[in-house]
Amino acid sequence: MDRFETALVEIVGPHHVLTDPDLTAAYETDWTGRFVGRAAAVVRPGTTAEVAEVMALLSAAGRPVVPQGGNTGLVGGSVPLHGEIVVSLRRLAEIGPVDVAAGQVTAGAGATPAAVDAAAARAGLAFGVDLAARDSATVGGMVATNAGGLRMLRYGGMRAQTAGVEAVLADGRVLSHLGGLAKDNTGYDLAGLLAGSEGTLAVVTGLRLRLVPRLEHRTTGLLAFADADRALEALVALRRRLPGSLEAVELFLAHGVALVCDHLRIPPPFGRIDAVYLLVEAAGAHDPTEELAEAVVDGVGDRALDGAIESDPAGRARLWRYREAHTEAISAAGMPVKLDVTLPAGELAGFLGAVCATVDRAAPGARCVLFGHAGDGNVHVNVLGADERDRAAVVEDAVLRLVARLGGSISAEHGIGTAKRAWLHLNRSPAEIDTFRAIKAAFDPAGILNPHVLLPEEGAAGGIVG
Ligand code: FAD
Ligand code: MLT
Ligand code: ZN
Repeated sequence: MDRFETALVEIVGPHHVLTDPDLTAAYETDWTGRFVGRAAAVVRPGTTAEVAEVMALLSAAGRPVVPQGGNTGLVGGSVPLHGEIVVSLRRLAEIGPVDVAAGQVTAGAGATPAAVDAAAARAGLAFGVDLAARDSATVGGMVATNAGGLRMLRYGGMRAQTAGVEAVLADGRVLSHLGGLAKDNTGYDLAGLLAGSEGTLAVVTGLRLRLVPRLEHRTTGLLAFADADRALEALVALRRRLPGSLEAVELFLAHGVALVCDHLRIPPPFGRIDAVYLLVEAAGAHDPTEELAEAVVDGVGDRALDGAIESDPAGRARLWRYREAHTEAISAAGMPVKLDVTLPAGELAGFLGAVCATVDRAAPGARCVLFGHAGDGNVHVNVLGADERDRAAVVEDAVLRLVARLGGSISAEHGIGTAKRAWLHLNRSPAEIDTFRAIKAAFDPAGILNPHVLLPEEGAAGGIVG
């Protein structure tokens, strides 16, 4: 063990500095298996004070760091692709008492959203951000990526749910602003800035999270359509008719549902595979079943080919699994190139109709699977059979340029990571990127925090040239 490792061990203890490849492996490969690195070491501090000491040491030694939460990120930002030291925040999982009066709770960065929601439930409240990785993602990682998820339509994403933050700067100083006051105009909103900073500005150690009322009555509907136009018209009608109770409107298509049915060995909805599906959920203090059923009958009508509505937990779960199992089913079929984009509402149908042809031109024979959060205009474009490096880059370039041409965002909710940094210029002007670099330099002058994430390489042309 060298002097540097000894110093780390003195801070966090011998069981929390990992260098044995068998122990570090899980921290070095991302969830998709597409991004694989090798860590100089994995350090697992157990308190904010330990994070501060670790960062002071790493900063003095000029050692680059990748902060890591649950390692469920999908853009290659959480793994040490250049031999960095991984600082894992998972041990900071403590959740404080729920402040019922404020409707808030203070949680360590390593707490999972499921654990935060369970704590909130004991006080009759809920955590408003939910995603399929609810048992393994961490709230620290979720604020770092500004995660969106399944209920963004109603509650907003992680930035909206973050009322305060505690974070350790690259040099070990601690920023702590966890009061969660409803009104607090005392200068820059650092919590807002750290949301979506992807570990490039500071290491988040704690969060003051907003909670929402726990709505015990829920109804889920699954609707099948012959094409995306009709599904998107139905989405508009449902939004208009359910302004107070609509919580999720999720979209998936024939290819995805076929993969899910193969993977889970379940029959397709309504006994056959249709072109487009919407999964909708309404929730309220009173049973929203009738309201949802009326909205479907009057607002959607014969635009839908078929439909089912369930309000008991088992029935709802049966409908949700067609949507929630997409990520897992796609990964079981191969190593996907994952793109996560938002389109302006008026361009969504056109994009859904055009993107797979774009993928096919870029990588003939690749399989294109689309699903996502239709209510937010957010499409997850997953491409199977294009993971070989050059082929992947051609697909990424073609899809991201199409998105930018249509006025969309090349990252809806997963972040830029290492996967999309070369294309940031499609959405951000040189002046914006210069401002990002100035902010990065103010927080992390030595550039040790996630140096290969989010910001494009200096001087790089961007995307695929030519
Ligand atoms: P990690 O993967 O560990 O890290 C992600 C990024 O944040 C990295 O850049 C890392 O350096 C940084 N980071 C992590 N922790 C900290 C910290 N404490 N301080 C500073 N930086 C940090 N995402 C969505 O937005 N919506 C979804 O619906 C959704 N569904 C998913 C479903 C599945 C099955 C899977 C596997 C992933 C899904 N994701 C989704 C992606 C992923 O779960 C989110 O990006 C999540 O926010 C990552 O959290 P994490 O703790 O795993 O972070
Ligand atoms: C989802 O909505 O399920 C996720 O963002 C994960 C994914 O894109 O695979
Ligand atoms: Zn998503």
